[in-house]
Amino acid sequence: LLRCQDKQLRIEHYGAFNPPIYTLLDGRPAPDPTASVVLRGERVKGGALALLEDTQLIETLAHFPRERIPERVVHAKAAGAWGEFECTKDLTDITTANIFSEVGKKTKVLMRISTTAGEKGFPDTVRDIRGWAMKFYTDEGNYDIVGNDLPVFFIRDPIKFPSLNRSHKRHPQTNVPDSTMYWDFHNNNQEGVHCLMQLFGQRGIPASLRNISGFGVHTFKLGKPEDGTFKYIKIHFKPDAGHVNLKKEDAIRLAGEEPDYHVKDLYNAIDKGDYPKWTMFLQIMSPKEAENYRWNIFDVTKIWPQKDYPLIPVGKLTLNKNPENFFQDIEQAAFSPSTLIPGIGPTADSMLQARMFSYPDAARYRVGPNFHQLPCNRPKYVYSPYNRDGPMRFDGNYGSDPDYVRSSFKTLKLGPGDVAHDEWVGKVGAYTSGVDEDDWVQARDFWKILKDRGDDELFIGNLTSHVSKALPNVQKETVKMFAKVDKEIGERMEKALDELNNAPDHSKAPYGVQEALGGGY
Ligand code: HEM
Repeated sequence: LLRCQDKQLRIEHYGAFNPPIYTLLDGRPAPDPTASVVLRGERVKGGALALLEDTQLIETLAHFPRERIPERVVHAKAAGAWGEFECTKDLTDITTANIFSEVGKKTKVLMRISTTAGEKGFPDTVRDIRGWAMKFYTDEGNYDIVGNDLPVFFIRDPIKFPSLNRSHKRHPQTNVPDSTMYWDFHNNNQEGVHCLMQLFGQRGIPASLRNISGFGVHTFKLGKPEDGTFKYIKIHFKPDAGHVNLKKEDAIRLAGEEPDYHVKDLYNAIDKGDYPKWTMFLQIMSPKEAENYRWNIFDVTKIWPQKDYPLIPVGKLTLNKNPENFFQDIEQAAFSPSTLIPGIGPTADSMLQARMFSYPDAARYRVGPNFHQLPCNRPKYVYSPYNRDGPMRFDGNYGSDPDYVRSSFKTLKLGPGDVAHDEWVGKVGAYTSGVDEDDWVQARDFWKILKDRGDDELFIGNLTSHVSKALPNVQKETVKMFAKVDKEIGERMEKALDELNNAPDHSKAPYGVQEALGGGY
């Protein structure tokens, strides 16, 4: 399990095949892609002057530095694949969302699974949240689920998102990941404690991407736009192969030996026909129940315990095709929580609302304003003539169709509206979200789960090896935060940190600088 079986990916792609005629970019057949056109002096072997007339050399050199598009500011490193979603439960009684319209209905899917903090070349086996981005190409437009492999998140006010991520990335001076700023952020934004408990538990470093869960994390709505009825839902995907995780020591070794371990594993599994599968489940709650529920269902730091809302299986996801070309199919793919279909709606969660702005905004910058045209992003059917022109338009650009609304010369058939939004009432204001007693309850429940499973020692070890690389006063504050979850965690952390801090080989380097992978993310 710990070693990729065949390191050579798709060797047959490199074999001999019917040779194409080589051309320059504008199609002119050319004699030699390895030779520049030069003016050679008679006596100087090899010495020569390059010429501006050498179109091949100029386009080769000019295109190269333009090969890169900006990498995603978060979730840059990823694996991706094509697949299929099959509905196993008819949900027409509660929603018009066409992916759930009949048992057996199949919908094509694109999937991108990422780490969060590291850059595009970062090792896979680090302690980090895995991003779970899916695009369903449905009969009524694309539907994206842009979730994570953990059910809760670190913050609940979107304005903190850039800060959260910078604290998990590289220090502005030293340019290395840094435990001090990581824990300083969390010490002062303690609503994330439940998510931290999960991240430093077993699930923080999966054995493979085939062994992770996917969660929608936010509460969404399933409903019927025509009559305004809806239910609240939470989305879960569970791996048929079960949850398998890596030991810290193996993860650290693999980060050096096989930095692309997870990417290779997913590719090789699909290539061999060992298709990864997940079951999709929903938790479903009525609006009435939501009003009086124990938890605020719009708070992404909270789950809905399954004893209150059991998991209902609704579909199967299978990944069955590798990308033909990673850049074209996966790097240029743009996922967004705003990409919804009739029958699935957002809710009054400010994090979700902010995300609905942020992702298409990022795609316009990262891929370009016409990113919707690319095959990986293009819906099955689209007619949106009031968004025209722009860079690299190649889809016909709606020909001579009117580019202004309410033209007398072309009428339109209109689609259904959104799922109703009747919970959107209240006072406008900038509310600083404090942390109260409620924020510790689910973290405490999770500590009990860790103890029942016998994972408590491992959790303390994972946590303290990371915290021990922070400045001493930051360490103290982190211990205080976890002691609020349970006194015992605080005491055990203190003991473990004493040992780590006094160990002769403790690789703290200068305080504040975390070794590249020791604590991992
Ligand atoms: C990627 C913003 C919270 C999951 C991204 C990207 C941005 C972003 C700008 C890069 C998009 C791109 O370049 O295409 C935000 C903001 C958040 C937030 C502003 C909070 C206010 C979350 C949460 C989740 C999440 C709560 C999970 C539930 C992801 C995933 C990706 C991503 C999976 C990678 C998408 C892909 O594969 O293309 N986020 N994010 N994010 N985010 Fe978030």
